[in-house]
Amino acid sequence: MNPFNLPLAPTLQADLSQSGKQSGTDAINNSRDLFYALIHISEHYHALPVAYQYVKQQLDSINDNYAADFSSKYSPAHLGLLIKKASGEHPYPLPGSELNACLKQYAPVFFTELSWLGNITHAATSQSPLAIELMAVYLRLINAPHTIANNRDIYHAWVLNAGIQLPTIHTITFAQQTDVSDEIFDFAALQLALGQFPRVFFPEILGFTLSYCQSLSLPEQFFPDPKTAQLPGFFAARTGQRQQELAQIGNLIKAYINEFSEETDAIWQRIQCGFRLHQHHLERCDQALSAHFHGSLSPRQAMEKLVVSLLPGAIGNHGKIRLGSRTLDEWFSEKPFKSANFLASLLLSPYIDRTKPENSKLLTLFEFNGPMFGVLDDNGKTVVKDWLMSELNPGLQKTKKAQSAQVKVGLKTITASGAAKSASAEITFTAPVPTKPVPYGSLSNRELYFYLVNNDLYPGVLPVAKAKVQRILTISRYINRLPLRHYSHPAFDKYIETLYQKEKKAYKPLGRKPNLPKEAYVWGIEQFAPTILTDGCWLQNVQQLNYFPNHTIGAYLYKIYRDECGNGVQEQNHPHIYQQLLDSQHIKLPAINTKEFSKHPCFIDSAFDIPVYLMAISKFPNFFLPELLGLNLAIEISGLGNVYLRLSEELKFYGIQSAIVDVHTSIDNLATGHTALAVNAIKFYLDDIAANFGDDVMQAHWRRIHTGYCSLTTASLCFKYSLIKHYKLKRPQDATTGKPDAPPTEPVKAKAPAK
Ligand SMILES: [Fe+2]
Ligand SMILES: [Fe+2]
Repeated sequence: MNPFNLPLAPTLQADLSQSGKQSGTDAINNSRDLFYALIHISEHYHALPVAYQYVKQQLDSINDNYAADFSSKYSPAHLGLLIKKASGEHPYPLPGSELNACLKQYAPVFFTELSWLGNITHAATSQSPLAIELMAVYLRLINAPHTIANNRDIYHAWVLNAGIQLPTIHTITFAQQTDVSDEIFDFAALQLALGQFPRVFFPEILGFTLSYCQSLSLPEQFFPDPKTAQLPGFFAARTGQRQQELAQIGNLIKAYINEFSEETDAIWQRIQCGFRLHQHHLERCDQALSAHFHGSLSPRQAMEKLVVSLLPGAIGNHGKIRLGSRTLDEWFSEKPFKSANFLASLLLSPYIDRTKPENSKLLTLFEFNGPMFGVLDDNGKTVVKDWLMSELNPGLQKTKKAQSAQVKVGLKTITASGAAKSASAEITFTAPVPTKPVPYGSLSNRELYFYLVNNDLYPGVLPVAKAKVQRILTISRYINRLPLRHYSHPAFDKYIETLYQKEKKAYKPLGRKPNLPKEAYVWGIEQFAPTILTDGCWLQNVQQLNYFPNHTIGAYLYKIYRDECGNGVQEQNHPHIYQQLLDSQHIKLPAINTKEFSKHPCFIDSAFDIPVYLMAISKFPNFFLPELLGLNLAIEISGLGNVYLRLSEELKFYGIQSAIVDVHTSIDNLATGHTALAVNAIKFYLDDIAANFGDDVMQAHWRRIHTGYCSLTTASLCFKYSLIKHYKLKRPQDATTGKPDAPPTEPVKAKAPAK
């Protein structure tokens, strides 16, 4: 097993006992509320336990209703069947005149597509080959050919062109569009909720993604004929791309099962459950939209509903009467009842006259003197007749479809099992079973590190994380002077250029042996491990910014984050490159997601200060956006000029790999690299604020950006001096013996982290 895949172990559980309802949570009563909270998760993190329960309850329901259909044992052949099971053409397409109204209905689902993969790599999984590969799939999907946010804009423009004004996705108005079906928001909220727990639901996410990749979107199903309705091109582009990913998803499922082979069958059940969950929501939305646009159920759907409604009184009343290979009682007793199979068998039975369906024996059963007289009223008989006519005379059915309104549906009352209960996802929150509380507020940074690396499992840490960020920002604000009294783009450009030139001029090539001994560098490399093994973490949630009108800022930041993760290529992943460096120096450390890592005696306490701050602020990308923009600039610009160039030469002098330094020197460059992206993001943000709120407010936000910029120094201060103090005065302790290493001659150089 690859140990870096262990953070994806199928046994992972989330501890929600300390993140129960807070004051605002009461507002989350249904999937629309949850949808809104998850779009604004940076401010509504109290919704996380509700989101978790929402997913869990649905998975339990799928298991209750469909587990009998799952293959109990995993085999590549069974997986192959799942991959090949493509959705067919819709039996009841919509007229082209309904296209734009359908797009309005479908928008919440389309706008949140793939959100369940947005956080698939984060601090805990940054070196996992499985997570990196899945991120690669995600990156290919969201770039096919436009980004998700761009596609959303195009979608808006398309429906606007048809005279439909869609509210923007981040508004409460969007979530409360009463003319959009509940089922649509149930689906969209699920897509968002899954993404909050990428590890706990990893097998289900694999299955969910497989179903997503092999299914046509509902608009494509409803409007299969381009002569009737021309769908926007991005539908076909995305569908084409996701079909190309099917094989890779299959490979990932195989790889995951191989990694945790002792739990193969349990994982396989969960993958199938995730797959079925996606299919189930597609079907529910299909039924809801069919009902919405047809004004009734399709004849087949109406027949299925009718049969299901008769089931409670039907069992045990049919003696030995058979349909196909089974008795009717066997059909009716099966759970879940397979209505599609039942109706297919019924159509092939002697009860049906396939040439003249209106003369079928089935219809006479319900007439006077028939064995089932009184079971159906006139409406019910019409349902049966319409179904027969539609199935055996499809040409007639298409013209009669709109007239078959005898069963006003009602899809809100149809569930997966066919049982009559509310399908609108009313969310009831049950407080989690309390476990021993973690005193987050009194934990040291060393202890907090574990909970922040694993914050998807411990959402209870978030209030403490937010307070910590606010503390550091407050200090930063009061101890730093604003360099530009009045912000303007030219002044900002000049300021950045001055910083850069100063760094550049300070560079002097290494002409002699470095001042510090090799041991000092090796020890410093070890102390930076908690920081660089989580490289990129401050941006790990910036995909949330995608949902806001100024999503270009999020796009700039996500571009940086992608690079930190190696763009789905392990060899280019920064934590991986640092791991190679540690390995080359025989520095053996536990995995960062374990308590053993943060308890490791080799680290000085303050080695956790920077990553704890970076991971804490990462959870609030919207709330702390200006500060995050400034912090990001500080990190990226620290990779330029003198310090890194010299460090690279010094490492090479001692034969130490310098790849982690070199990659930052190039990728953080000011012309087109991360520093340029960081600068552009700031300008774009301030432009937006100025345009919306005026110059005074923009200047206040510049102040916040600068506070964020300075916060890196504030958060690093203790570490910087501790490095010197520990190396010079105490000397580093040998990680295995606890005894001091060879005495150093000079203090280790303290510098900003390589990012
Ligand atoms: Fe980096
Ligand atoms: Fe960078």
